[in-house]
Amino acid sequence: MALLIRGGEIVTAESRSRGDIFIEDETIAHIGIDLTAPPETEVVDATGKLIFPGFIDPHVHIHLPFMATFAKDTHATASKAALIGGTTTFIEMCCPSRNEDALDGYNIWKQKAEGNSACDYAFHMAVTRYDSDTEAQLREIVRDGTASFKVFLAYKNFFGVNDEELFQTLQLAAELGVITTAHCENAELVSQLQQLLLAEGKTGPEWHEPSRPEAVEVEGTSRFATFLEQTGATGYVVHLSCAPALRAAVEAKLRGVKIYVESVLPHFLLDKSYAERHGVEGMKHVMSPPLRDRRNPPALWSALQAGLIDTVGTDHCPFDIEQKLLGANNFTQIPNGIPGLEDRVNLMYTYGVKRGTLDIHRFVDALSTRPAKLFGLFPRKGSISVGADADLVIYDPKYRGMISAATQHSNNDYNGFEGFAIEGRPSHVTVRGKVQARDGVFVGEPGRGRMLRRQPQYGARQVSEEALTHVG
Ligand code: URP
Ligand code: ZN
Ligand code: ZN
Repeated sequence: MALLIRGGEIVTAESRSRGDIFIEDETIAHIGIDLTAPPETEVVDATGKLIFPGFIDPHVHIHLPFMATFAKDTHATASKAALIGGTTTFIEMCCPSRNEDALDGYNIWKQKAEGNSACDYAFHMAVTRYDSDTEAQLREIVRDGTASFKVFLAYKNFFGVNDEELFQTLQLAAELGVITTAHCENAELVSQLQQLLLAEGKTGPEWHEPSRPEAVEVEGTSRFATFLEQTGATGYVVHLSCAPALRAAVEAKLRGVKIYVESVLPHFLLDKSYAERHGVEGMKHVMSPPLRDRRNPPALWSALQAGLIDTVGTDHCPFDIEQKLLGANNFTQIPNGIPGLEDRVNLMYTYGVKRGTLDIHRFVDALSTRPAKLFGLFPRKGSISVGADADLVIYDPKYRGMISAATQHSNNDYNGFEGFAIEGRPSHVTVRGKVQARDGVFVGEPGRGRMLRRQPQYGARQVSEEALTHVG
């Protein structure tokens, strides 16, 4: 059925103007003033509202076997939470363990998602081992439309790759023209520091940050940049948490390394004092890289506004209180992760745009358009333009509310942002022209989401004109 969205203020990464949007056959058919529509058309009055392109979360974990347990969401619960919060596409980290074949893992992740997601989705393929079979499997995965890799320089003996495997992965990525995303912490230093702290009887969650200090992340970021430089591959640092690591990434950018930077919701809004809270309250705020000293969030906001940080994701990774308590006597066993998929848009709008620290166009760019460009989804996603998928967020800037586990839709029994006020919320969220969420309620088709297949765009041939225009 056709849909007409009337009288909203259309806000994109570049522009802002009042207008109507007419949607037919899942895509945007017309944008203009006082559009008329056939009689059967569903009409949504967007007067007084903002209309954004559907937001894209470039970093989520849904199915995730990790730290002796599994993350709590399913594709059904996570996608509904995403949509209610204005995210219409997510890119999930497909993370088989080191003793699993890449292709087997990929097929498991695809099966988990297929028919179960209410919003569109794609994968980053984690390379957690590189041996003689891996290369052929990765080529097949890229041919299947998953045109980005993930490497972990952390998590020794689990997801982590060694330098030889990192080099091989990046060589293949450069040849295939795919971008490689990376968790940048030095696995050996983390392991050694953890053992030292435990030997001193330091077992609580407040010791998580000292076990992976900023220097550990700086080393990982610099090493990743050096490996990109030597292989000619294009890279993307995930969940960068602190100013010194940002400096390392920016220095690499300045010397011409093709490196992009993501920071995630918790690092903008929380600091390490949350993880220093007593008992399980601290454990709820354990993630890696850790929440940092309070000097860092203001630096991240400035860098985001300046475009030195390219994108904002969540690193959504829900473990409930019972799971967090697996590390009650040993901080190294607290499952790492803070969920945020449902809250990213509202919190970044409230504490960025409304507080005057983030320009509204940069907000749209970092949370929608730039992830679409970097990961081969633009202009189908991340734009409001004729022919684009009609993924739209009609946003009510007058809404006032509060984040709470009691009202969230993600499958978890706590929220790391409990009690944070929000000033704005999506009133309607569409996926390819169908209203899937309205005023905090899921009202759509549960299995509507499709896997998005993407083309490599960083190959020697394409990188010149096309990719640079897209990346902008
Ligand atoms: O603490 C985190 N970040 N958990 C999820 C796994 C990862 O490193 O992204
Ligand atoms: Zn990570
Ligand atoms: Zn992650």
